[in-house]
Amino acid sequence: MNTFPEVRLRRLRRTPALRRMFDMTMPGPEKFMWPVFVKEGRGINEPIDAMPGQSRMSVDVLMKELTRVVDMGIGSILVFGLVDGSRKDASGTAAYDERGAVSQAIRCIRKEFPDLVIASDVCVCAYTSHGHCGPLTASGDVDNDAANTVLARMAVSHAAAGADMVAPSAMMDGQVAAIRKALDAEGFQQTLLMSYSTKFASSMYGPFREAEESAPQKGDRRSYQASFGDLRQALRESQLDEAEGADILMLKPSLFYLDILARLRDRTDLPIAVYNVSGEYAMLIAAAERGWGDLGAMVRESTMSLSRAGADLIISYWASRYDEIFKKG
Ligand code: PBG
Ligand code: ZN
Repeated sequence: MNTFPEVRLRRLRRTPALRRMFDMTMPGPEKFMWPVFVKEGRGINEPIDAMPGQSRMSVDVLMKELTRVVDMGIGSILVFGLVDGSRKDASGTAAYDERGAVSQAIRCIRKEFPDLVIASDVCVCAYTSHGHCGPLTASGDVDNDAANTVLARMAVSHAAAGADMVAPSAMMDGQVAAIRKALDAEGFQQTLLMSYSTKFASSMYGPFREAEESAPQKGDRRSYQASFGDLRQALRESQLDEAEGADILMLKPSLFYLDILARLRDRTDLPIAVYNVSGEYAMLIAAAERGWGDLGAMVRESTMSLSRAGADLIISYWASRYDEIFKKG
C-alpha cells in the first residue's frame, strides 16, 4: 500500500465541491418522523419547558402546525396522547378510548394530510395512575402479560382510527406478537408494526416525561426497559421482535448507542428507526444557549452520525425545525 508522500488524503477534501462529491447525503425530510403530544380540547398550545420549540397541542392547533411541517417535506409523525389525571386508572383504560385525543388526531390527520405516514405510540404510562407501562401485580411489578392485552387493544384502536403504523414502546416480552395477532384478527393486516425493539432504561427521557406527565410515581423502568450495560441482551431484544413479526425495528435513545445501531445494522435486513429522544434534543439546545456550540452545526453532525451508523428513519423533534437546521451548513 502506498503511503505518504505519494498518498495525500487532503487532496480528496480540498474544496467544498470535492467534499460534497464524497460525503454521504444528509437524510432528507422524508426520512424524519416528528413526535407530537396531543391533548383533548381546542386552541391548546402549551410550550414544553425542557423542550424549547415543542409543545402540547390540541388537534386543531396540531393541524395548523402540520401544514407547515408537511410543507417542508417531513414524511411522518408519531402521535402521543395525554389525558387529565382524573381519567387515569390502574390499568390505563383511557389508552384505547375511541374518542380520546390520539384517535381523534389520527382521524383528522388522515383526512387533512392523506400522504403523511401516521404512526402512533402504543404504551400506557401516560394513562396509568401509577405511571408504569402496564398494570401492576400485587407485589408492584409490571404484569407483563396483562400489559400485552391492554397494548393490543390500544394498537387496534389506533389502527381503526386510521394509523398506518403502530409503535409499541412498553418493552413487554411478547408485545409484538400479541399486537400483530390482534391487528390481524381485526382485519388490520396492512397496519405496520414498528417496535421500540431495543429501548434502554435511559436518563435521557426526562423532558419527555415532563411533556407527557408520564413519570412513574414510584420506582423506575429498569425491570422492563433494557440495561445499557448489557450489549448482547440489547441485540437479542431486537432480534426477538423481528422473529415476532415486527416490520421495523427501533433503537432508543440514539446518540449514546451508535455501537448498537451499527451492530444491529449488520444483523438484520429490516428497516431500522432510531429515536433521537427528548434529552438529546434538550442537551444540544442547552449547550447552544450557553454559547458552547452552534445549534445547527451540532444537530447536523449528530444526525449524520445516525445515518452513517445505519439508521433508515430518524424519529426526532428536529423534524419540526427541518428547514432552520438543515437548509444551511
Ligand atoms: C413511553 C415513552 C417514553 C419515550 C417514548 N415513549 C418515555 C419512557 O419510556 O419513560 C421517550 C421519548 C423521549 O424521551 O423523547 N413508553
Ligand atoms: Zn410507557
